[in-house]
Amino acid sequence: KKRIGILTSGGDCPGLNAAIRSLGKTAILRYDFEVVGFLSGFAGLISGEYIILDEAKLSGILTLGGTILGTSREKPFKNYQNDSEKVESKPEAIQRTYETLGLECLICIGGNGTQKTAHKLAKMGLKVIGLPKTIDNDIWGTDITFGFDSAVSIATEAIDRLHTTANSHRRIMVVEVMGHHAGWLALYSGMASGGDVILIPEIPYTIETIAAYLEDRYRKQKPYSIVVVAEGIPIPEPLREKYYSPAHYIADSVQKLTGLESRETILGYVQRGGTPTAYDRVLATRLGSYAVELIMKRKWNRMVCVRNGEIDSVKLEEVSGKLKLVEPDHPMIEEARSLGTCFGNEGR
Ligand code: F6P
Repeated sequence: KKRIGILTSGGDCPGLNAAIRSLGKTAILRYDFEVVGFLSGFAGLISGEYIILDEAKLSGILTLGGTILGTSREKPFKNYQNDSEKVESKPEAIQRTYETLGLECLICIGGNGTQKTAHKLAKMGLKVIGLPKTIDNDIWGTDITFGFDSAVSIATEAIDRLHTTANSHRRIMVVEVMGHHAGWLALYSGMASGGDVILIPEIPYTIETIAAYLEDRYRKQKPYSIVVVAEGIPIPEPLREKYYSPAHYIADSVQKLTGLESRETILGYVQRGGTPTAYDRVLATRLGSYAVELIMKRKWNRMVCVRNGEIDSVKLEEVSGKLKLVEPDHPMIEEARSLGTCFGNEGR
């Protein structure tokens, strides 16, 4: 039997199991492949730790959060120098596992780092296909990644709950969502939950602008405010030691500048856990089944993607090393501004 390998790498997200199930079932039921699932991302590929994903293992996992294969942030090419290593290097170990198992193709489900590693493996001669997942939605070459819709829903529900307690106490609630480089999650959950201020890494802000805006809301008899911040927004250099997170900095500074009572909430890993939304289940399923079709067409070294609403694929070399950030002139920014949302740089 022909054999393919699957791994999940990088931060987990809802929809990984839906993707594993779709890849595995399509490969087994439609094309009679054997499917090998490597444990803990690239770490399992290096150490040769895997399980055979048979039909039984692929059943009942569609709605499960996390990944049945486990994941890690193992980067096999980090500090890798071709000629200086006497012992077997990680890329060499990967090559050995791949060849020993006689893999037809390796499917790497992951974010930006994973696609970069997949591209490097392709350059070594392995046949690789990437599947884009991340709650950050920041993978270049695809309109959307699975995991994002679930995280937006989780964050939105949490922020909805903050509205009522903010109102009762007449407070400013600063809520921090994930997104180190890209503000997609803050922008979408901020719009969905009616955030008054949305701060994203792509748009520079000043604390004075935010404070003035929040004071103005207070003067207009609005009893409370919601500030949604991405974890990747900067804290000014001299204050970085003092604050444990951007939300902490914003809440404390706004309270000092306005005299209005402020509190911070950091949503953290809650955003990555639990069952995927219907949208993410469908997306992960469609991407997974398309990946198997690519193998059958012998179209390797590509990442499956969504382009203009259609499932498609893009060369890994085009994706590798790039990030999809929110453009400051993205239509959603203007639309939110029309409703009075502040992005922290008004008037500049
Ligand atoms: O998956 C991306 C992400 O959620 C980022 O937004 C976040 O900063 C990062 O993962 C943190 O993940 P970990 O602590 O698992 O490395």
